[in-house]
Amino acid sequence: MSFLTTENSPISFTKPGALEETRFEKIHNIIFNNSEMASKAVAREISDLIRLKQKEKKNCILGLATGSSPIKVYEELILLHKNEGLSFKNVITFNLDEYYPIEIDDKQSYYHFMEENLFKHIDIKHENIFIPRGDTSQNGVNEYCNKYEDLINKSGGVDFQLLGIGRTGHIGFNEPGSHLNSQTRIITLDHITRLDASSSFQNLEQVPRNAITMGIDTILKAKRIVLLAWGRNKAEVIKKAVESKISSQIPATYLQLHHNTTFVLDKTASSELVRIREPWIIGNCKWNEILKKEAIIWLCKKLQKPILKLTDKDYNVNGISSLLNYKCSAYNLNIEMFNQLQNTITGWPGGKPNSSDLRRPERALPVRKKVVILSFQYDRAIFSMGGTIDRLIEQGHDVHVIYLESDNSSVTNDECLKYVEVFRDILPKNSEGVMDAAITELNNFKQLEADSALIQRIKRLIREKESLGATSYLGISRKNVHFLNMSLCDDLKSKEVDLLKEILKKIEPQQIFAAGDFKDPHGFEKKCIDFFKIAFKELQTEMLVKDCWVWLYNASLREWNTSEIDMAVPLSPDQVIKKRNAIFNYLSQREEILFQGEDTRKFWIRSEIKNRKTAKKYHKLGLTEYEALEVFKRLKEEQSI
Ligand code: GLP
Repeated sequence: MSFLTTENSPISFTKPGALEETRFEKIHNIIFNNSEMASKAVAREISDLIRLKQKEKKNCILGLATGSSPIKVYEELILLHKNEGLSFKNVITFNLDEYYPIEIDDKQSYYHFMEENLFKHIDIKHENIFIPRGDTSQNGVNEYCNKYEDLINKSGGVDFQLLGIGRTGHIGFNEPGSHLNSQTRIITLDHITRLDASSSFQNLEQVPRNAITMGIDTILKAKRIVLLAWGRNKAEVIKKAVESKISSQIPATYLQLHHNTTFVLDKTASSELVRIREPWIIGNCKWNEILKKEAIIWLCKKLQKPILKLTDKDYNVNGISSLLNYKCSAYNLNIEMFNQLQNTITGWPGGKPNSSDLRRPERALPVRKKVVILSFQYDRAIFSMGGTIDRLIEQGHDVHVIYLESDNSSVTNDECLKYVEVFRDILPKNSEGVMDAAITELNNFKQLEADSALIQRIKRLIREKESLGATSYLGISRKNVHFLNMSLCDDLKSKEVDLLKEILKKIEPQQIFAAGDFKDPHGFEKKCIDFFKIAFKELQTEMLVKDCWVWLYNASLREWNTSEIDMAVPLSPDQVIKKRNAIFNYLSQREEILFQGEDTRKFWIRSEIKNRKTAKKYHKLGLTEYEALEVFKRLKEEQSI
């Protein structure tokens, strides 16, 4: 087995087949620092196999996957072909799945995906490529699936099967409910899978309801299986696949039955595994401040006890007595931890004037701070920190909001039509033609066609005006609101960085709030914080921003872990309502929003529940009971600004 070369050393490595020393893990897995390193290692294993088969004068049968996860592996294989002369002439490929129905030249088809991301760049023989055909007639589809299965078997079976994993736990398109003995067949897609696919199909309605997929049995017959998973989004399902019992509800758990499977993960996809998240349960753990905090919070949760009620015995019988060596007794350790959490709570997010700031999250001086709030998708800052913004304004700080993104795609055509009809009715006669054209376009909209420049502009303006409504409701003056109108989907250019630098230079902030859940490598938050970091670092090097602290809010549905929180701002019941009213300005977002995931609750409800939940978590640890809490993490120098 040639798995992994030293140049791509993973964080932890054991040979395939040998499980980590944990009673929790049932599938061999390897964690890499990032998906680039991991993809290189996987591509290397594939190329070694192809070469080995060449020497043996045999074909190499690869089972291939689509989706974002394998893309870097394919890029790496293309590089190996171009730079190291790796030939694919002895390679036969079978793709896992295809949407049904779909035309093969459709941009969303896996035919198109494979051609663009791999096949057209390498020397594979066209006749050696097999992908289930989504254009097979309905009458013939069952027979077609049987033939596909036969073809795989006749080729000698798959030598190496590459897999991704869906959030439902599907492999290929084997959705929850798939049987262990299932073979290539047609399947109905799960709602979550269709939602996840809706970003490439523009909207949910466009996503096919069915797919053809290799079955679980087909996959398990492969001699070697490697499943790739990157990003925070996959962490929960990876935990289930690796640690829970085999169940048709999480089809990836069937891989526990295979003797030569490896899950290749990046750090964030592995973050929910017991070994990573609660290492003290597995065995001796090297304590640091964060782990200490996490273990104590875990103990409180497990025993349903507040911190100050934990006893020596509680630490002992739950396997974390080594923590007591720090402070000798539970009493001292409890008090230390309680105080640390207590000190994160402040009603003065901009610092409390005329009082000691030794134990407060923010500095007291300057009394009146210049504060910048960075928001993406227009509404995220208000959803995530509307109550804190309210306090900052009330406490006299000079608050600016910078909206990074021109997020027009989330306004529906129906919403846009209402505005356009109003313009048409009030505009002077000679402008009517333009609005009539817009109305015709909206009424005759064809899916998958991009909006015209005019419609994009109108949608952007709707979002802009809503944002202005929200910020002015909270008391931020119009001149303090800045729109950058960039697209976080594109690669960020130096022109945009300069634009942000220019605004920050003018404001000279002492405090910046930004969305920053960089655990999700595909997310907008990561893009947003990376972009900001470039601008901020340049400003710091040029000494144009001094003594400025950066605070991160989590704009996603999940909140920071309690152990990560550096500042917690309580919201009174009145402030919760005020925040709700500010959010109501985002009228165009009130109905179901594109890309919002499987959670169909309205945004304002989700934001309130999140803040109330955080308050409850604090209260359960024995801290004061608040109506709601908005919480922040400080981006410290050492976190690579
Ligand atoms: C689709 C594919 C799967 C793939 C999954 C995950 O559902 N049919 O084979 O594993 O997407 O996609 P991604 O890698 O983009 O997360």
